[in-house]
Amino acid sequence: MVLHFVLTAWTVSIVSVLGQVQSREDALLCAAEPWGRYSASGGLYTASGVQYIYSFGGDTRSHGDERGGVVSTNWRFRLGGNGTKCWERVADSPAAVGYRSTATALNDHVYLFGGGDTSFAATGHFWRYSLLGDSWEEMLPSQVVGPWPSARYKHATVKISETRMLLLGGRRDATVLSDAWLFDLDQMAWSLVGDSILQVYRHGMAYDPLRQVVWIHGGLDGNRQRYGTQLWRWNISTFDSSHLELAELVPTTGPGPSRLASHAAEYIPELDALLFWGGTCSDDAQLYLYDIARSAWCAVYAGNRPDRRDAMIWALDYPRFYVAQGDLICHNFGIYPIVDVHVFDFAAPWAGWQMLYEPRNERGTGAEAYCDGTNRGSCQPQPLLAERGTRISQPAGCESGFMDSISTWANTSTTTTVADEVSSTSSPALSRASANAGRAAVVSAWVLSATAPLSQ
Ligand SMILES: *[C@@H]1O[C@H](CO)[C@@H](O)[C@H](O)[C@H]1NC(C)=O
Ligand SMILES: *[C@@H]1O[C@H](CO)[C@@H](O)[C@H](O)[C@H]1NC(C)=O
Ligand SMILES: *[C@@H]1O[C@H](CO)[C@@H](O)[C@H](O)[C@H]1NC(C)=O
Repeated sequence: MVLHFVLTAWTVSIVSVLGQVQSREDALLCAAEPWGRYSASGGLYTASGVQYIYSFGGDTRSHGDERGGVVSTNWRFRLGGNGTKCWERVADSPAAVGYRSTATALNDHVYLFGGGDTSFAATGHFWRYSLLGDSWEEMLPSQVVGPWPSARYKHATVKISETRMLLLGGRRDATVLSDAWLFDLDQMAWSLVGDSILQVYRHGMAYDPLRQVVWIHGGLDGNRQRYGTQLWRWNISTFDSSHLELAELVPTTGPGPSRLASHAAEYIPELDALLFWGGTCSDDAQLYLYDIARSAWCAVYAGNRPDRRDAMIWALDYPRFYVAQGDLICHNFGIYPIVDVHVFDFAAPWAGWQMLYEPRNERGTGAEAYCDGTNRGSCQPQPLLAERGTRISQPAGCESGFMDSISTWANTSTTTTVADEVSSTSSPALSRASANAGRAAVVSAWVLSATAPLSQ
């Protein structure tokens, strides 16, 4: 059964504001700001009861000034509680924990495997970070039973239980890998669970516990060419007989994402759907949902979409979906790392994306040249592309599942202030510093109401 994600929003009369929740002025209240970075690993983890988006390692190099590189600095961005949301520095790692490593939380630690070193050479390093102790430990082959996965980066991992994670693919030099590995914390063991599952790197991967399958989408193939619209289903239910089947292609319908790489991928249990975002210059920064039961795609064109990027970090805490950092790949195809944070709330889709953190330093804003207010910018929560009505209102493939409720998005064409939102919303993640309450924010629901012919 498919749940409809919007309807609950209408039980509360929230007057919401689109766009920006914290501004650059708010960011000035923060003690520090990371340099923009991409290819970090991380995600949403809870430490001492508070949710944070963590960011480990990554590359701060920018074509804006040719400075930066693969770093040993690590950060977290607080999502809960009141007051200004800031990036906070956590313990440096003893060495760079990776350019395109993976980070997976098992129990109280985050496990990071592989990634490029400061020369972008693939490694087989295995680190663990203590969320409670804010400390690093390198895991050595002598501490772990079994064989060890070969060096790689741009692979993907999924957590399949509190103590097990699965790793697939990746790249080392010109070699694109297709092997799959299981790390089992209870056994403190790596094991090879398949040696030719699918040749892929920079893919999106998400675990679906309902079906016991791993969904794989996008990335690049063995010839280092982007895959198209393919979606693979990898049945891992036969794990315990240590016989793993190959990933199989799944026929899908609707306007699915194409040629994504280094994008966000999640399974949303509440919708029984997959979510994909980012990783290409050729889409409109829409959120893609894949309705698993119907094998159908739909594209969610919310307002104030963050600028297109890849190699960002992201976090799902349904109904909220966060993205942060990344490389603004689409500007002259250079590397312009950024350190913003955005959230989309599936319970209030008409509010569009909201910017939770606007970088204050040149080095965090992506590329200085693109933050000059000329509407080419990457820093403002504005419609970054021509949000043509035909595209915003296009729920093709969505009507049968999620998107019948998009017609209600137009109901909220109200101009208000962020202060109204603070007093009327119950959402701590979307509240903002009272010091800046009262500054008007841009409302762009009109884009939807003015143009959406509202498919039924
Ligand atoms: C945050 O603000 C709300 C509303 O003013 C208040 O009820 C709550 O106690 C505050 N939480 C903290 C941790 O200060
Ligand atoms: C996974 O494989 C098992 C064993 O072959 C099978 O029973 C199950 O139906 C498969 N699951 C899916 C979702 O195809
Ligand atoms: C929203 O608009 C739809 C279609 O015009 C209407 O049926 C519905 O009653 C409206 N809802 C609210 C809360 O105004």
